[in-house]
Amino acid sequence: MAGRRIAAGNCVKDSPKGVLWFRRAGRAMVPLVDRSQIERLLLLAAALESGVIDALAEAEAATASAVAASASADPRVCRLVLEALAEIGVVEVVRSSDPSLYRLTERGRRHLVEPGPDLERARLVHQAGKARGWMELPYIIAHGKRPPASRRRRNLHAFAHTMAEGSSAKIDESVDAILSYARPVHPRSMIDVGGGLGHVALRFADRGLQATVVDTPSIIRLARRQRDAVGSGVRLVEGDFNVALPSGPFDVAYLGNVFHIYGPAKNRRLADRVYRTLAPGGVLAAVDLVWDRSPRARMFAVDMLQATDEGGVWLEEEYRTWLQEAGFEDVEIVDLTLGTNQLILGRRMR
Ligand SMILES: C[S@@+](CC[C@H](N)C(=O)[O-])C[C@H]1O[C@@H](n2cnc3c(N)ncnc32)[C@H](O)[C@@H]1O
Repeated sequence: MAGRRIAAGNCVKDSPKGVLWFRRAGRAMVPLVDRSQIERLLLLAAALESGVIDALAEAEAATASAVAASASADPRVCRLVLEALAEIGVVEVVRSSDPSLYRLTERGRRHLVEPGPDLERARLVHQAGKARGWMELPYIIAHGKRPPASRRRRNLHAFAHTMAEGSSAKIDESVDAILSYARPVHPRSMIDVGGGLGHVALRFADRGLQATVVDTPSIIRLARRQRDAVGSGVRLVEGDFNVALPSGPFDVAYLGNVFHIYGPAKNRRLADRVYRTLAPGGVLAAVDLVWDRSPRARMFAVDMLQATDEGGVWLEEEYRTWLQEAGFEDVEIVDLTLGTNQLILGRRMR
């Protein structure tokens, strides 16, 4: 019976195991998880991190030994990895006689190498890092906190570039909504608090605002290294936004995916600090997931358990309280249409 095609929900499986389940239950079993996806993710992330993909990208076509030599990898394992990458369609075997010759497929290049809307190399490496964090969930469930070694795990480069690989249409939706909220004032300056490599600040700069990014020293160093990509109009400042913000006054303070990193007490103080750095009429705009509004809130809250010490997904009421206690008025929470995030807005009147 192995190999018989059975209908499983709206997908069709050839798996012999699937046939077994089919027989036992008398119906197709739709698994909770497509388990092959985690292996696919880890394979791609490992091939990127080890340099196998870049070694292959540099050559028109190469043998496993040549790729291994260029990536300082083990030739036998490298061949197996290239064969597996061919199985999932990112590599093709251009000559199968010994020694086989491999090259990246067009899809592999688009998703793993070439700058463009399909590029997801940082996201894959970052996601694999997150998977390592999620492996600690049993410990976190038992102890209520992460194991002490967790903080050393993050691949900063992949993290920062994952943020920057985000969809520009989503950023534009937020920027449009913020500028429309600010009306009739047209803001002239903005600060991106926890702005990463400056990808959002750059969109504000494109609309004529003077943009400043504040982030940790390690992220700002990365941003400076790729200053060309960020654009020379954006000012980059190293700092800890939980201690101080660059002195303003600014017309807009943007906080993208920042409030979910810390707990309510720090967030309340951050809202205060933002208020004080804004000019009268200035706008606080935060993009985040709001517990009672985002369909992704609960899974994301668990993600924050593995990624942060005190972060989480906060209630609409909590955001309103932090902003109002800091002095903000006209507080609004808008569901963004592209994605599952909310835009939290408040105005400093005087
Ligand atoms: C989740 S990322 C969001 C990046 C960007 N705002 C976005 O939405 O794509 C959070 C950013 O805040 C920065 N960050 C976290 N804590 C910080 C702190 N205490 N001071 C300065 N930057 C901080 C991180 O380095 C990171 O770049």
